[in-house]
Amino acid sequence: MSRRKRIGILTGGGDSPGLNAVIRAVAKSLMQDAGAEVFGFVDGFAGMIEQQVRRLSYADVSGILTLGGTILGTSNKANPFAYYARGNADVSAEVVRYVREDLKLDAVVAIGGDGTMSIAHRLQQAGIPMVGVPKTIDNDLMYTDRTFGFDTAVAIATEAIDRLHTTAQSHHRVMILETMGRYAGWIALYAGVAGGADIILIPEFDYDIEEVARVCRERARGGQRFTLVCVAEGAKARGGELAVRQVVADSPDPLRLGGVCNVLEHALCQRIDTEVRTAILGHVQRGGTPTAYDRNLATAFGAYAAALVADEQWGRMAAVQQGRLTGVAIADVANRQRTVAPDAPMVATAMAVGTSFGVPGMQLRFDGKVPSAFMT
Ligand code: F6P
Repeated sequence: MSRRKRIGILTGGGDSPGLNAVIRAVAKSLMQDAGAEVFGFVDGFAGMIEQQVRRLSYADVSGILTLGGTILGTSNKANPFAYYARGNADVSAEVVRYVREDLKLDAVVAIGGDGTMSIAHRLQQAGIPMVGVPKTIDNDLMYTDRTFGFDTAVAIATEAIDRLHTTAQSHHRVMILETMGRYAGWIALYAGVAGGADIILIPEFDYDIEEVARVCRERARGGQRFTLVCVAEGAKARGGELAVRQVVADSPDPLRLGGVCNVLEHALCQRIDTEVRTAILGHVQRGGTPTAYDRNLATAFGAYAAALVADEQWGRMAAVQQGRLTGVAIADVANRQRTVAPDAPMVATAMAVGTSFGVPGMQLRFDGKVPSAFMT
């Protein structure tokens, strides 16, 4: 009889609502269906390097479905191939030995974004069988139509727009909401459409401040005495710079963005008569309990990842494509981003109701047919 599988699990990068739902689904499924022993690394890859691991019991993963954050902790700095705490040394050989020989793990399930998948891919090449689960509120991982956490972030951002709406309307102001979304504008796009934003500015389409001002003025002239703007933190003006809040030197992705709404406010105040106010949503959109959709998606991803483990399909990441779960190569996902294309269905939907992307001349071209896809 073959021995029980021993599987590690970790969460890497920024937290995202639904992480605990994935941990629960992976662990319960592996324990129940494959009789596996499951071990959780503390603080992501930091736990692998610093040898901080704990065995997870069934009770440990019960009652966590609705919890935000991650019961295992996470780190967006620890990288075994360049470990900041040891002068950026490559400690991967040590890590492989620890995982395979000391802990005797058969595989590790890594739950994370493109940075985590990049490390997972390299560890797989170095000798640790890996399985991935796609996480990020930004929804920008390749080869999956959705990442868990995105729906919750969109719901929070939409509520924020709804709340700003009342002040915008009552005080006849331009209200700007800044969402997260470093290189991809999915959150701003989906929350903007859901909240009825008049202008949506995203990293994929550099905006023209004159066009943004023109839309605000035109609305006022037409009797709409307020304007709602939803801007992703990574948006920038044509020929302009990213609004960098902080540079975290040790991090694999050192730029922390924030403040583009203040740049916009300053530029708009010089061009329109209407008062302008701003709000930065920040980490509020990553916190708290996941939506029902994200709980379901996270649970489905977790169960699918456990099936990949049971089937020994190493180097694969769970993904959802056109409503079906599938496995894609972690190597193909590593260090890449899925951004919003100009012909994305939700861009067409936004433009169909007159939403501006701050780009002069950007027009909806149906070419005789309305886009039939809804959410991709
Ligand atoms: O990648 C997820 C994300 O929330 C981005 O949208 C954001 O730019 C970044 O993480 C913020 O990172 P931190 O939590 O380190 O400030």
